[in-house]
Amino acid sequence: MNESYKEWLESIAHPLILLDAKGNIISANYEAKKSFGFLKGRTFLRLIREKELSPEKQIEKEVNFNGYDIDIRLRPVFSEDGCIYFIASLTDITAAKRTEQDLKNISEVYQTVVENSLAAISIHQDGITRFVNRRYAEMLGFEDPAQCIGRPFWASIHPDDVPMVKERGLMREKHQVLPAQYVFREVKQDGTVIWVEIRATHATYMGKPAAVTNLIDITQRVKAEEEIRTLSQRLVRVREDERKKLAADLHDQMGQTLTAMHFDLENLRTYIPDLPPEGTRLYERLVANVEALADHLRKTTLYMRSDLLEQKMLIAVLDQLVKEFMHQHPQMKVSFQSLGFKKRLNPEIELTVYRIFQESLRNISKHARADHVEIILTYSHPRIILTIRDNGVGFSPKKKAKTRGIGLISMKERVVSFGGEMDVISAPGKGTTLRFDIPVC
Ligand SMILES: Nc1ncnc2c1ncn2[C@@H]1O[C@H](COP(=O)(O)OP(=O)(O)O)[C@@H](O)[C@H]1O
Ligand SMILES: [Mg+2]
Repeated sequence: MNESYKEWLESIAHPLILLDAKGNIISANYEAKKSFGFLKGRTFLRLIREKELSPEKQIEKEVNFNGYDIDIRLRPVFSEDGCIYFIASLTDITAAKRTEQDLKNISEVYQTVVENSLAAISIHQDGITRFVNRRYAEMLGFEDPAQCIGRPFWASIHPDDVPMVKERGLMREKHQVLPAQYVFREVKQDGTVIWVEIRATHATYMGKPAAVTNLIDITQRVKAEEEIRTLSQRLVRVREDERKKLAADLHDQMGQTLTAMHFDLENLRTYIPDLPPEGTRLYERLVANVEALADHLRKTTLYMRSDLLEQKMLIAVLDQLVKEFMHQHPQMKVSFQSLGFKKRLNPEIELTVYRIFQESLRNISKHARADHVEIILTYSHPRIILTIRDNGVGFSPKKKAKTRGIGLISMKERVVSFGGEMDVISAPGKGTTLRFDIPVC
């Protein structure tokens, strides 16, 4: 029996071994020796215990032998003399087992990362929440993550933000490209409203497309930003009030005194008709200086005043600024176009536009040495866009200016206090473009 089986075993190109009724290995074919090292006197190692063997049925088992994970399929055979043997077919499953273990390790690592994340992580499919981590439950005021499963993913979103988030969420599940990061509000279980920033991607979960989202609670940041905005609006207002008061004081006190001085000087001339030439020159210089001072005072108070806006429409006041500018710079070609300003806007916004306009023209006159200025102001609800372009000497906006001016900074401050943006596009020799984008509430 043994010999004929051995020959047969050798003819098969798959690892096979022959065992006796007690489970001892009697023989191994070439493939088995090659694959698992059944040689070197270890032929009789036990792969299987005697009591596990059964003459009635086939046995399947996984064992570890010589460092290999082996899948054994054992079937009984009977020799001519009625003795029972077992033929075992062996399959090396070491690599498969290792992969399985690796996957298990990886998924354990993922689970640990997800559960300990400071971000609230959730997975949604077809608009329904399928998974959330502990932080997610905590953030929305649930005691147990399980309470969040099976709900529509917008169940805790602030009603005003639901349409926007819902649309983006459902589109994301369908793999449509979207801004992956944005801000909205959630309502906690106890009714508290929090601000969250979402970062979302899509992934496959349980074999189907899903949206994976990371949420971070940014309520503190939003509150701080709001406070800063209110504070800088207040500072701007205080500065404006002070300017207004100073302009009024200068106009009333100095302006009147200067007018009186001018009047008296004119009169004085009639009392001293026979001045020597030197005296006449001095007298005329005095009059010219008083006039220059009065002119300077008029311009300064005009620059500081903002009550012009209380009397005239914004565009009319800006037109006047442009006219004065052109008068002072006859060599410059200036064009000013405005669009969409039919009604009065929030006075604070009008004042902001006015001050930006003023400071930009002042910078052009002080620094640009341009011969062409183009200004475009458009209002298309809910935004005002102002672009002021000159073809002058330009500068490097990133480099710190040698002079410590606050013109550009205060323009930015004003715009940001309304949640707007200011861009400075300039380079030496390339002219300067200022672009303001101001939301109108
Ligand atoms: N239109 C412009 N053309 C060239 N340089 C400019 C222009 N506007 C601003 N600058 C540069 O930016 C600097 C900062 O401007 P600003 O903050 O208004 O301060 P200031 O006008 O008091 O110097 C200026 O000193 C100048 O170098
Ligand atoms: Mg300036």
